[in-house]
Amino acid sequence: MVSKRAKQDIRMKGIYNPKGVSINGSKTVSVFGLGFVGLTTALGFAEIGCRVFGIDIDEERKKSLRNGVVPFHEPHMDGILNNHLDSNFFITDEVSEAVKESTYIFYCVGTPYGTDGTADLTYLFSAIDSTLDAINDEKFRVLVTKSTIPPSTTAEKILPYVNKKGNKSKFLRVANNPEFLREGHCWEDFMEADRIVLGVNDEKSRELLAELYEPMGIPIKCVTHSTGEFIKYLSNTLLATLISFSNEMAQAAEAFGGIEVAEAFRILHMDKRWNDCNMTSYVYPGCGYGGYCLPKDTSAFYSQAAEKGFEAQILKQVIQTNTERPKRIAERIAFYLNEYIQAGTVGILGLSFKPGSDDVRDTPAIKIIQELQKLGCKEIVAYDPIAKEEFHCKYPGIGISYADSIQEVYDRSDILAIVTAWEEFRIIPALGNKKIIDCRYML
Ligand SMILES: NC(=O)c1ccc[n+]([C@@H]2O[C@H](COP(=O)([O-])OP(=O)(O)OC[C@H]3O[C@@H](n4cnc5c(N)ncnc54)[C@H](O)[C@@H]3O)[C@@H](O)[C@H]2O)c1
Repeated sequence: MVSKRAKQDIRMKGIYNPKGVSINGSKTVSVFGLGFVGLTTALGFAEIGCRVFGIDIDEERKKSLRNGVVPFHEPHMDGILNNHLDSNFFITDEVSEAVKESTYIFYCVGTPYGTDGTADLTYLFSAIDSTLDAINDEKFRVLVTKSTIPPSTTAEKILPYVNKKGNKSKFLRVANNPEFLREGHCWEDFMEADRIVLGVNDEKSRELLAELYEPMGIPIKCVTHSTGEFIKYLSNTLLATLISFSNEMAQAAEAFGGIEVAEAFRILHMDKRWNDCNMTSYVYPGCGYGGYCLPKDTSAFYSQAAEKGFEAQILKQVIQTNTERPKRIAERIAFYLNEYIQAGTVGILGLSFKPGSDDVRDTPAIKIIQELQKLGCKEIVAYDPIAKEEFHCKYPGIGISYADSIQEVYDRSDILAIVTAWEEFRIIPALGNKKIIDCRYML
């Protein structure tokens, strides 16, 4: 009987390979943070034959992953995890051992809102500290930030920190490698990415990272540290701008009256210049952008630019429009509530920030519910095909009840509001003639 500790030691040496997957031990990667980005990154490198160590501080998350269960909703990921788990992907608590063995250290930890609106880098620097504490040899390593960090962070904060802490910097390189995947499409977005952006300022990092990514056959663009960081914000702030623009135009259209808003946007998308492009989903009104990335990234970029002396006026309005959108939606719902039935139960259809995901971070649903409560709405019943548990855990005590099916939410409500554009909500009008407020313009 091999003890747990001995098994772990064997795994660390990379020879515990019960499933017989061939391991290309020539490239060893450690990944800090096993969320949407980190788990995908770790498994992506495992898929191309690397030996990968996954590190996380969340015990529950590690326990679930060690049992072969991905603790969030992400298509394909369970199967891929089980293909590589304990073959060439090892979830380890032995951080020093993992770092010692690795040439590549990827940071995929959260960079949430900081107190002043910019990015909180606490998790990132804590992971960098664990890395630096583990290193006492002369092996070349590249420390790669995949987490989203504002422009100038690598040059002004990470590099000086790594250079200062100890005298190991001679053998350490620092780079960034922003990630563009979408939740709900993590695997294909990583494995078939449009481009790999490497923020590098030295030949050795460029060489090492190009070698690592080479088997994926994806165009690699090497840019300066700050350009790499900027490209990610360029992308997310543009998406946020498209969404806020669409919401502002929808609000203007509603003020004019007599305008078929959804139809107008669909006809806009028929313009050849859009050319069936996937971006049209962002040029469409809804409840405002939510989720983990767009809200915090627009805020971080705006704050960081202001700190550097430039106030981005368009972005300021993009954020303002998004902040106000849930209020406008709640007022619309409350108007119908007061107009038709004086008081009653509102059914909220959808809790995740977008369909196909159980992520409820910064979801418009929570803001709409809170605004409705401020407007005096006492009874709210909510339904979501997959995000109910997540929502309940993240927002305990919000004072709403939950339904287990569309039929149940329909039966228990006096009026209903579609807040997340789940396809299955299209059947709602067929259930009866209750008032439905289509906040996603999908019916
Ligand atoms: N979610 C997305 O769609 C997406 C897309 C592109 C980029 N990003 C960026 O990637 C980063 C990660 O996002 P995510 O959605 O994967 O976050 P996540 O919250 O799903 O995962 C982050 C993980 O990091 C772990 N962690 C925190 N501190 C740690 C430490 N010191 N050592 C080891 N693990 C630690 C947490 O426990 C958590 O499991 C963020 O900067 C985000 O902005 C996210």
